[in-house]
Amino acid sequence: MLRQWWLRGATACSQFSRAHSGCNTSSKPKRSIPEDGLQLSDFIKEGTKKQRMKQIIPSIEDTKEYLNPEDLRGNGRTVCYVTYGCQMNVSDMEIVRSIMTQYGFVESEKREKADVVLLMTCSIRDGAEKKVWNQLKLIRSNSVNKSQIVGVLGCMAERVRHDLLAKRNLVNIVAGYCRCRPRPSLQEHLNFNFPGPDSYRDLPRLVAVAAGGSNAINVQLSLDETYADVQPIRVDAATKTAFISIMRGCDNMCTYCVVPFTRGRERSRPIESIVDEVRRLRDDGYKQITLLGQNVNSYRDLTMSPSTSSEDRVPGFKTVYKPKTGGLTFTSLLEQVSDAAPEVRFRFTSPHPKDFPMQLIELIASRPNLCKQLHLPAQSGDDDTLERMGRGYTRDLYLRLVDDIRKILPNVFLTSDFIAGFCGETEQAHQNTLSLIRQVGYSFCFVFPYSMRGKTRAHHRLADDVPEEVKAQRHLDLTTVFREEALKLNQALVGTEQIVLREGTSRRDATYSYGRIDGGVKTVFPNPEDIVKPGQYAKVLITEANSQTLRAHLIGEANI
Ligand code: SAH
Ligand code: SF4
Ligand code: F3S
Repeated sequence: MLRQWWLRGATACSQFSRAHSGCNTSSKPKRSIPEDGLQLSDFIKEGTKKQRMKQIIPSIEDTKEYLNPEDLRGNGRTVCYVTYGCQMNVSDMEIVRSIMTQYGFVESEKREKADVVLLMTCSIRDGAEKKVWNQLKLIRSNSVNKSQIVGVLGCMAERVRHDLLAKRNLVNIVAGYCRCRPRPSLQEHLNFNFPGPDSYRDLPRLVAVAAGGSNAINVQLSLDETYADVQPIRVDAATKTAFISIMRGCDNMCTYCVVPFTRGRERSRPIESIVDEVRRLRDDGYKQITLLGQNVNSYRDLTMSPSTSSEDRVPGFKTVYKPKTGGLTFTSLLEQVSDAAPEVRFRFTSPHPKDFPMQLIELIASRPNLCKQLHLPAQSGDDDTLERMGRGYTRDLYLRLVDDIRKILPNVFLTSDFIAGFCGETEQAHQNTLSLIRQVGYSFCFVFPYSMRGKTRAHHRLADDVPEEVKAQRHLDLTTVFREEALKLNQALVGTEQIVLREGTSRRDATYSYGRIDGGVKTVFPNPEDIVKPGQYAKVLITEANSQTLRAHLIGEANI
C-alpha cells in the first residue's frame, strides 16, 4: 500500500516541473539528487512572491523530481523516536514507526548516535513548546553523529514551522498535519480545502531531502487522511493495551485552544478499518483498547449511508458549526467494536460533553466490555467563563447531563479537564468551578493553568489578564479540591470486589502487579507467583485507597 502511494506521488506533476520544463510527467526523465545536494536555488525561479516564498520553505513537492525510490530506503539507518504531548501523539508516533520500519529504518534508543531523531511535539501550552526547544538544543549539543537528521513532527510543526525552519542548525525536517495559513478565520477554517496527504507518509522522502543537504517541510492538510491502512507498531505491546485512532482534527474552536489550527478539520476513519484493527488486536491477545480522537465522540463515518438524525447530540448544547448529519455515529461504532471483541475492554478519549446522547450511555450500560468511565471535560463551572471559552453549554446543562448519565450509570467514574485563570476569570468564577468539582465528584481531573496561544479567538479578542501567580494559586486550589473528592470516591471502594486488568509489574516491588479497575483507577495487588499475567483479568478485593491509587488483595482469575 505504501509503495503504491509512493508511485502515485512520484508521477505527480510538481510545481517545479511546470515552471521549468512544462508538464508532461509520463515522458520526463528521472533526475537524482546532485552530488553536492539540492540547493535552495534549485527550487527557485526568480520572480513571483510565491516563488520567493520557496527560499524560506522549499516544499517536498519540489523535490520529487530528484529522488528515486532507492533514496527513500532506510538501509538499516537508525531512528530515535521522542514523543511529547497527548495520547494522540503516542498513537501518531506508532504510525510513524510503522512507516519508517517499512522503508527499512531501524529503531534505536541511542539518541546521540542515531542517524535520525524524530520528535512528536505538542503546542497546547507555552510550557509544552519550551520543553521541545530545550530538547532540540540538547540533542544537537549531545550528538556524536555529525550528519544526524532531526525532524520535528506534530503540533509544533504546524504552529511554529517558520521559527523551526529558521533554526537550520537545530532542525532539518518539519512535518505536521496541516497547512495553516496565518490566522485563518473561523469561516476559513471551516471551509479549508487543501487536498493531499498528511505528511507522515512523506517522511522517508523528507529524510532523503534532508540527507541531500536541504531542509524539508511538509505541513499539508488533508481533509480525509486517517492512516486507516497503516498498521501501527505498538509501544505498549507488553501490557496488552492498545490505542486506536478513530478520528482526527477538531471543528469545535473553543476560544482558548490551538488544536483546530494544528490538527485541522474533523475527519473520521471508516468503521470497517477500525473493526478490522480491533479484530487483529483481539487475535494478538490484547485486552484493552482505547479509541482515540481529539473529539472522539464526534466520530461519524460518512462513507456509510444509514442516517442518524437528531439523537447524536445532547439537547441544548450548541456548536459553532452546522449540525452534522448522515453516516454512522460513535454509538454505532462502539456497538460494533464491542461485538467484535467481547473479551476486550473498551475506553475512549477525549470526548466533548455535547456528543453524549442517551443512546450512547444506554449502550455503555448494557455492555460489560464498555468501561463505565467517562471523561467529561468541563473546563469551568462558571457560565460567563464557559461563554467566553465558546464551550456551547452552561453549568446547568452540564450538571443536567451528569445527572442523566448517573441515572443510567449510577456507578460511573467521571473524569474532567479544567483550565485555571482563563481570560477574565474572576475570583467568584473560580469559586464556581471549585463548587462544580465538589458537586460532581470526579475520580481524576487534568488541571491546566491557562496559556494564551496565537491564532486562537481568545488571542484575538480577549486579554490574558489573570496574573500568573493567581493562575498558579487557582491551579493548586482546583487540584486540591478534585483530590479531596477523588479520595472520598476511592475510599468508598474499600471492601468491594473489582475486576482488574493486569498491565504490568510495580516498579517499587516486583512481587506486586498493577492494572486498572473498570472505572479506570490504578490498582496495585500482590501477585508474587505471577499467577495473573499481563493481559489477564483478576478479581481483587480493595483494601486501601488514596486519591490516586487503590491497593487490593488478589481473589483469583476472572473474566468480564
Ligand atoms: N479535545 C479535547 C482535548 C483537548 S486538549 C477536549 O476538548 O477535551 C486537552 C486539554 O488541554 C483541554 O481539555 C483543556 O483543558 C487544555 N487546554 C487546551 N488549551 C489550553 C490552553 N490554551 N491553556 C491551558 N489549557 C489548555
Ligand atoms: Fe480544543 Fe475544544 Fe477541540 Fe478540545 S474540543 S480540541 S478543547 S477546540
Ligand atoms: Fe498537544 Fe496537539 Fe495533542 S497541541 S494536546 S499534541 S493535539
